[in-house]
Amino acid sequence: MSYYEALGLVKEPFSTSPDPEFFYRSSEHNTALQRLEIAVRLRRGLSLILGDIGTGKTTLSRTLLQTFNGEDNFVFKLVLDPAYKSEFQFLAALTKMFGVNPNFRSTLDYKEAIEKYLFRMGVDENKTIILLIDEGQKLSHPFLEILRTLLNYETNEYKLLQLVVLAQMELLPRIKRIKNFYDRVTLKYIINPLDEMETREMIKFRLHKSGLGPGRELFTPGAIKMIYEQTLGYPRRIAVLSHNALEYAVMRDKQIVDEAIMRSVISQEVK
Ligand SMILES: Nc1ncnc2c1ncn2[C@@H]1O[C@H](COP(=O)(O)OP(=O)(O)O)[C@@H](O)[C@H]1O
Ligand SMILES: [Mg+2]
Repeated sequence: MSYYEALGLVKEPFSTSPDPEFFYRSSEHNTALQRLEIAVRLRRGLSLILGDIGTGKTTLSRTLLQTFNGEDNFVFKLVLDPAYKSEFQFLAALTKMFGVNPNFRSTLDYKEAIEKYLFRMGVDENKTIILLIDEGQKLSHPFLEILRTLLNYETNEYKLLQLVVLAQMELLPRIKRIKNFYDRVTLKYIINPLDEMETREMIKFRLHKSGLGPGRELFTPGAIKMIYEQTLGYPRRIAVLSHNALEYAVMRDKQIVDEAIMRSVISQEVK
């Protein structure tokens, strides 16, 4: 029996995989999601979502994909890790992703082939193509230049490529230095960590999603306060610490995490 079943749950409550089902919509996450959705629907071009490690960027992007589930007019292409060896490799990966075959192996041909594809899809077939790039802080200057070129393709009314970049904060100063790239950002949103109330809500939300019955609590208010103080509201750290605390409790046949358990778990973490 796994630790969560011992607590009467049917699913693992604090897994760290980016599962939309376990995505608690804090007001910031919700705003980011809604604005992203609007930017994509209106084909506004470039959206940038920034935040520290573990603030929920990847999970947010999965939730965005889910929002467009079943809408065939929106075609998402995902780059999960833009760590390519060269500019040419990056372009080659994009052409492959778009399923286009350039005539020659040159940067110019690759760009032209992508442009043709975007026109055919965007204008002839009236589809919205979204290139979603996660781990955007890994985009080096030449890659950003390529993306800038792709953003130039447009009709009188809209951009032919929607670009959504999720990145750690360090990308921002680098993008700012490329002025004509930064000028194209139509949505810039920074995801901040949760506050104490939201931390509590996130923990409750995930326990509820895992099957915790109404009226039952697995953490005392004091324990939750300690989780907040220890994690400063970073969702990934909240998930990891909550998981460790529940496991610790189960191993000692306890059904609720209190401050004493939290103290033990936290002291173990620091060591
Ligand atoms: N809004 C949220 N609600 C619930 N869990 C979250 C939320 N945001 C992040 N998490 C949890 O934190 C983990 C890290 O989130 P992730 O999306 O990978 O962050 P990032 O991509 O910003 O590093 C996720 O796997 C998820 O378990
Ligand atoms: Mg991520």
